[in-house]
Amino acid sequence: MLHLESPYCDTKMYGRAIASTNKILRPKLFNLTRAETSILPSFLNARNVSQNLPRLPVPALKQTLDKFLLTAKPHLSDKEFASTTELIKKFSDENGIGAKLQKYLVEKAKSTENWLSEWWLHSAYLDFRYPVIIHSSPALVYPIENFKTEHERLVYSARLILAVMEYKLLIDNDKIPTDMMGKDPLDMNQYKQVIGTCRIPGLKRDKLEYYPTSKHVVVMHNNHFFKVHLFGDNNQLISENQLLQQLHDIMEQSVATAPPIGILTSDSRDNWGKAYQQLIKDPENEASAKEIQKSLFLVCLDGPMSPLPNENRKTIAGRQLLHGGGSKQNGGNRWYDKTIQFIIGQDGLVGLNYEHSPSEGQPVAVISDYIYESIKKESGKGKPDVPYNKIPERLPFNVNDEIQKAILVASKNVDEQADGLDLFCLHFDSFGKDFIKSQKLSPDSFIQIALQYAFYRVHKTPGAHYESAATRKYAHGRTETIRSCSIESIDFAKTMLDNTKSNADKVTALRKAIDGHKKYTVEAMNGFGVDRHLLGLKLAAMELGEKIPEIYSDPGYVRSAHMRISTSQVATKCDGFMCFGPLVPDGYACCYNPRPKDINFGISAFTAHPDTSAVKFKDALVNSLNDMHDILAKTQKSKM
Ligand code: COA
Repeated sequence: MLHLESPYCDTKMYGRAIASTNKILRPKLFNLTRAETSILPSFLNARNVSQNLPRLPVPALKQTLDKFLLTAKPHLSDKEFASTTELIKKFSDENGIGAKLQKYLVEKAKSTENWLSEWWLHSAYLDFRYPVIIHSSPALVYPIENFKTEHERLVYSARLILAVMEYKLLIDNDKIPTDMMGKDPLDMNQYKQVIGTCRIPGLKRDKLEYYPTSKHVVVMHNNHFFKVHLFGDNNQLISENQLLQQLHDIMEQSVATAPPIGILTSDSRDNWGKAYQQLIKDPENEASAKEIQKSLFLVCLDGPMSPLPNENRKTIAGRQLLHGGGSKQNGGNRWYDKTIQFIIGQDGLVGLNYEHSPSEGQPVAVISDYIYESIKKESGKGKPDVPYNKIPERLPFNVNDEIQKAILVASKNVDEQADGLDLFCLHFDSFGKDFIKSQKLSPDSFIQIALQYAFYRVHKTPGAHYESAATRKYAHGRTETIRSCSIESIDFAKTMLDNTKSNADKVTALRKAIDGHKKYTVEAMNGFGVDRHLLGLKLAAMELGEKIPEIYSDPGYVRSAHMRISTSQVATKCDGFMCFGPLVPDGYACCYNPRPKDINFGISAFTAHPDTSAVKFKDALVNSLNDMHDILAKTQKSKM
C-alpha cells in the first residue's frame, strides 16, 4: 500500500516526491518501482519480543527466476517472452552479476536477523513523501452504529477507549495468545507497536517515536485537541463514568470550530515536514504537538458526513476514515501521523485509520474484534470510580501567517485527494467461506481468482495482481507478494468467457487456477516468493555500486510489477472491513473480509483514470463470484 509512482508523482503539487538525506539509501529510492515499495518491512525497535523465530531465508536464485518467468508470461508476447528468458539466463549465469548479488544477500542474511527489514524500515515508509492518506494508511470500518443521542455516542467512545486499554494491558503482560500459522508461531512484535507509536515528520525523512508507557489519549472534536488522563491517583484506570464525564466536558468546550491544524498531517510529507518546522517554532505549539505524539492513540469525534449520490453507508464510512471527506467535512479533525486514530462519527459511522509503518492490518483487525466484543458486552459498565481529580486539558495551537498558508495548501490538496478517490464498499451476501470450503477449495484463493476474472472481464487483458502474504513466521517478518495473475488464472477467465466451453471445462480451469494460487500462497508465506528476493538483489546492486541489471527494465519485470490490482485479506469476525487506495493510476485496490456466510469488500480506483471505475469493477466481481458459485453448484448437482 505504498506508492512511488502515484498520480501525484508528476504534479508540481508534491514536487520531487522522494528524497532522502541518507547517502546510501538515496539512489536506491529513485530506482525502485511501485511494486517494490509496496513491501512492508519490519519495524525494528528496542521492544522486540524474543521469540527465537527462524530468519527470513534467501531463496535460491534459479528458483526465484524460474518462478518470475512464469508470472511474467501472461504479460508478454511469445517474442517478448523469449527475449526475457534470454536475459534471465544471462543474469543467472554462474559468473554473471546475479550470482554476485546473490552472494551478497546470503552474507547479509547471515549477519542480520532479517536481511530485508532494516533496508526497508526507512525506504518503504519513512522516506516516503506522498501523503499517508489513501496511499499508505488504511481504514478499518467497524459495524455501523445507531447513536440516537450525543450521549450514546460518548458512551460508545468511553467504552472503546477503555476496551483498547484493557487490550493494551494484555499485550503489555504478554497475555495475548501467540498467533499461529499451522504449527508455526508468528512474530508478535507488531501488536506491541500499534498503541503509543507516532510518526514524526521530517524535511526529507520521517521518524517513528514510541511511547508505550504514556497514560493519556488525545480526543479531537471540531478540530480541537484535548489531552485526557486515563489513570487516577493510584495509577488505576478510570471508570467508564469518569471517562464519560471527560468526554462531555470536551464537547462543551469545543462547540466552535478551531483552525484545522490537523489537516497539515494529510499533506505530502515534504509539505507537512516544512509546516511542522514552522509550527513548532512556537513553544506552545511544540508542547501541544508533543502531547499528541506521546499519546497512546487518538479519538476523533467527527461531525456527520454528506453522502454522494446513491452512496451506501459503508462507502461513506470508508471515505470518512480514509480522508475525512476533505477540508469541508472532517479532514481537519485528524492527526494522521498517529498510528491509530479511532474515528467516531455523530451519524454512527465508526472505525479507525492507521499509519502503516509499525504494523500490518491483521494485528489491528484482531484488536478491533476485541474492542467490538468488549463494547457490546458493556464490560466496563458499573465499575466503581477511582480517586481522580483531572480535567481534559486543551492543547492550544497558535496560527501565524505561515501556518495559515500551509493550512490553505493542505486543504486544497486533501480536497483533490478526496475527490480523486473512487470508492465502493460492497457487502456481498450470496455466500461466504462456508460454501467455498464445502467445495474443498481455499476461500482466499477463490476470491483472488474471482478478482482476476473480474479484471479480465472488464479490461480484456491480464492484470498484474498483488496480494499480501504474511511472513510473520520469521523474525521481524512482514509480507511477501503473492502474484495472483498466472497462466492458469488467465486461462480460467478465458474459459469462462468462451461459450463453446462446457461446465466441466470451466470447473477444471477454476480448480487449476485456485490450486496454482494456493501453491504460490504457501511458498510466499514461507518466504519463497519472487518480489522480495528480486528487490533484495536490486538493493544489493545499489549497495555494491553496480549498474542496475537489465532485467529490471525489461518488459517482463516492468509489466508484471505494475500491480493493477492491489489486494489484501484482512479478516475480522465482526461485520467490518478495510480499504485503501490503488497502487497505480490505472489500477484498483481491493481489501476483503471473508466471513462464513458473506464477504465484505472495500474497492477503490482513481477518478482521474478513464479506464477504471470502482462500480464497474464491483459489478464484474459480483458477477464473477456468482458465476463461479453457479458452475460449482451445477457440477455438484450433475454428480448427484
Ligand atoms: N478445502 C476446505 N477448506 C479449506 C481449503 C480446502 N481446499 N483450503 C483452505 N481451507 C480452509 C482453511 O483450513 C481455513 O480454515 P479456517 O477458517 O477454519 O481457519 C480457511 O479455509 C481459510 O483458508 P484460506 O482461505 O486458504 O487462506 P488463509 O486464511 O490462510 O489466508 C492469506 C491466506 C494469504 C490471506 C493469509 O495466510 C495471510 O497471509 N494473511 C495476512 C495478509 C496480510 O498481511 N494482510 C495485511 C496487509 S495490510
